[in-house]
Order: sequence, then C-alpha cells, then structure tokens
Amino acid sequence: MRKPIIAGNWKMNNTIEQSKRLVKELIPLIKDAKVDVVLCPSYLSLQEVKNLVKDTSVKVGAQNMHFEKSGAYTGEVSGEMLKELEIEYVIIGHSERRQYFNETDETVNRKVKKALELNLIPIICVGETLEEREQGKARSIVTSQVEAALKDLSNKEIAQLVIAYEPIWAIGTGKTASSQDANEVCSWIRDKVNQLADVHVAQNIRIQYGGSVKPNNIKELMEQPHIDGALVGGASLKVDQFSAIVNY
Ligand code: G3P
Repeated sequence: MRKPIIAGNWKMNNTIEQSKRLVKELIPLIKDAKVDVVLCPSYLSLQEVKNLVKDTSVKVGAQNMHFEKSGAYTGEVSGEMLKELEIEYVIIGHSERRQYFNETDETVNRKVKKALELNLIPIICVGETLEEREQGKARSIVTSQVEAALKDLSNKEIAQLVIAYEPIWAIGTGKTASSQDANEVCSWIRDKVNQLADVHVAQNIRIQYGGSVKPNNIKELMEQPHIDGALVGGASLKVDQFSAIVNY
C-alpha cells in the first residue's frame, strides 16, 4: 500500500513571520493526519518552519536546489546547505522553474541525482502545456520528462522519490484536470517507471497530482487508483483549506 503524501508548495509567498503564524495555526488542525504532510516554504522560512514542526510528523521541503555543492552561482542554494537544516524533501523541476529559470530535463536530472546522493527526497514535477495536451502530445511529453529526470538512476534510487504530475494549464488557474484524466496520466507515469525500474518499484512509487487542488476536489482525486497525493499551491497558503485537504 502506498501512503498518500500531500505537500504544500508555498512558492514565493509568506514572510518568515507569516510562515510561523501559518504553521502554528495549522499544526493542531492536522495532528491526526493519515497522510504524509510536507510543507515547502521559501528558503528563508525553512529553519523556522523546521523548528515549529519538530515534535510532529510534518516534514519540510525546499522548492529548489542547485546540483553543485558550492561555488560561484550567485543567488543559488545547494543541497548541502539544505541538509544542514535537516529538511527531508526538495521539489525539483517545477514548471515555474522550467518556464522562468531555464530549467531543463538535464538540470532536473542532475538535481535529482544530487538530492538522492544527499538523502533528500526529490518531488519531481512533470506536466504538459494546454497546447501540448490539445495536440495529443500529453503522454509523450510527460513520459519523456520522467525518463529524462530518472536517467541513470538505479532501482534503489528510483524507489526513494516522488513524482508530481502538474498539468501546466491547471496551475493557479482554477481549472483542475478531471480526476479521470489526472489518473490516466499518473498511470502513464507509472508505466514509464515500470520500464525504467522493476515492477515492485513502479507499484510503490508515489505519484501526486497538482493543479488547483482544493478541499472540494481532493477526495475524488484521491479515490483514483494511480493518484497517491497532491502538490498544493494556492490552497496551501490558507490554513482552513490546506487542513481540509490533508484531512480529506
Ligand atoms: O506546485 C503546486 C502547484 O503548481 C499547483 O498550484 O495554485 O494550482 O494549487 P495551484
């Protein structure tokens, strides 16, 4: 059985003070969660959020990392720096990183390898644009992103990670993929993992859906056989909404 995993990607929102307030309000509301919960604040809030969830089962993730250990990469943060904060997860290859910060399948693969080397669990994001979907290319785009992200990884490494299917047209738009469509793409992802790793790994890997997940659609999404959780953007900034999603 795959344990569901629900992560909040706060993106470039919440100051340190706002982050602390959100977490303090959230903790009592999700203390009986039956799913793994991961909060992904900005780099600046990681330490405070980590401190606040210390005695709970809530885990903390970063939204990005560099694949180099250190060096002349102005403005970047390395996986080693994240490890120092004892955080557990890192989102890699979010479509906003691919779109605005020139992330490519190759850099995603390098970051995934580095994260695994450091025992950080990557949440690898993949997803097609509306145009690609309308042209019937969703399957080839998404599976090629998965193949590239997982290039040269061993079975054991693939078994550690989480994949998030986020159709770009559903992010922050209020448009959700139908639960059937989302499930279908997640099944394609699982098939691809099955080609790259053994069947046991493919059956156990957790695949999240992301894109306008809200309290009113989480249940139906989670009922789908290939959807094992959610990567939540906007609704993760609101205590009532995120707690309702976690406790679906
Ligand atoms: O990573 C989460 C994401 O991109 C979805 O954002 O606001 O549509 O839930 P949102």
